[in-house]
Amino acid sequence: MRAALICAKKRGVSIKSSTVSRSGRFAGGPAAETAQFTESISFDWRLWQHDLQGSLAHATMLRKIGVLTGAELAAITRGLKQIGREIAAGKFQWKPELEDVHMNIESELTRRVPAGAKLHTGRSRNDQVALDVRLWLRGEIIALLGDIAGLQRALVALGERNADVIIPGYTHLQRAQPVYLAHHLLAYVEMLERDCERLWDCHSRVNVCPLGSGAIAGSTLPLDRTLVARLLGFLDANGKVQLTQNSMDAVSDRDFMIEFAAAAALLAVHLSRLAEDVILWVSAEFNYLKLADAYTTGSSLMPQKKNPDIAELARGKTGRVVGNLMSLLMLLKGLPMTYNRDLQEDKERLFDTADTVRATTRLMAAMLRHTTVNAAACARAASDPALLATDLADYLVGKGMPFRQAHHLVGAVVARAEATGKPLNQLTLAELQSVDPAFGRDALGVFDLQRAMAKRNLTGAPGTKEVATQLARWRGQLS
Ligand code: ARG
Repeated sequence: MRAALICAKKRGVSIKSSTVSRSGRFAGGPAAETAQFTESISFDWRLWQHDLQGSLAHATMLRKIGVLTGAELAAITRGLKQIGREIAAGKFQWKPELEDVHMNIESELTRRVPAGAKLHTGRSRNDQVALDVRLWLRGEIIALLGDIAGLQRALVALGERNADVIIPGYTHLQRAQPVYLAHHLLAYVEMLERDCERLWDCHSRVNVCPLGSGAIAGSTLPLDRTLVARLLGFLDANGKVQLTQNSMDAVSDRDFMIEFAAAAALLAVHLSRLAEDVILWVSAEFNYLKLADAYTTGSSLMPQKKNPDIAELARGKTGRVVGNLMSLLMLLKGLPMTYNRDLQEDKERLFDTADTVRATTRLMAAMLRHTTVNAAACARAASDPALLATDLADYLVGKGMPFRQAHHLVGAVVARAEATGKPLNQLTLAELQSVDPAFGRDALGVFDLQRAMAKRNLTGAPGTKEVATQLARWRGQLS
């Protein structure tokens, strides 16, 4: 459809003057280049279901207040549903000269059903488009929440499949302290949960019905806004109807899109961080993970390559999602009240944001579902005794030593180990005691990794019991 329109543009197809919005006031149609520059059908066609849904509710309301007869409502309903079937089957002919999805559907309806000419009573494209995008975004948010839950489940499942695997945790990308792999993965589950909370919060402001605001100033007709909102499911959690409360705000407000774009941008940033960990971990240097062939790509030149392109693109696509947020903010900046045609520029950024984060979330989940862990490589890395240097300081604290002093002494022990070329856990008791006599026989027991992990039992810590508890909590919450 889009391709056909672009071809039509390239051929410089002349634009007919049948635009309903121009009849009466204008002597002729728009110049071809005016029509091409101002059209939005090439991208807003995808609002068609929501446009039909809104029109059906509006028509039902017009019948109730006596603008339409029962027969007219029936004819309009039949006509709209038939158009819907044709669009779904790819048989509807979109006309760029009719500007947008709203005019295309209304014009075709009116051509087929004379009563269609009454459908726009008390309505403007300004409140219509605000309604359509709210309906569309409402659905996208719900779908995105499902996609995110899928990714959270994939992370939990990967953690559960490798519940015993311990890896070094990193700060400054330097080995810091040991953690269960599951603990690292659950960090992303937490981040994604906050994304869900932000999206839900945003949903409550998307889920407000603007119809009845007209072009800017409502209508002199006794429209039943509550009925329309009820028919379209604009209800809060308590079943209370949600209506916009200022007609000027209603037709010019795009805050709800910006909120979505902002929540999506942060989600994309989270996805990029997960992607980066995957990219590092599949490198030969780490070798913690192995991606399935189906979720990797090859090199056109180097036969041995198996590249983590899904993760790289997830990281890369963050740029456009953040860029979309900036575009929307700039679109609104300094815009005078109320509706201005600038606002037509909102949709491509909005669609691209939703499409990008949804696809990325789903692909990252699929990739992780087909990922295996190299337990041996993880165990090798986690066996680095330096990861437990802090545990050795805690050991001295247990003997009553101030932490600052313990930190200093263990630093000296690390320097001694380095000087003698021994791993930290290979020092003899005599060598430890030459640094400080506070080290007892039990000091080297600190380097038993399993015992060390069993000790980390604070809420939120990567201890054996605590990680199992957190995995079980998330398993329950996500099922
Ligand atoms: N295509 C337009 C948009 O996306 C619909 C609203 C047009 N309103 C108008 N007064 N021209 O914003």
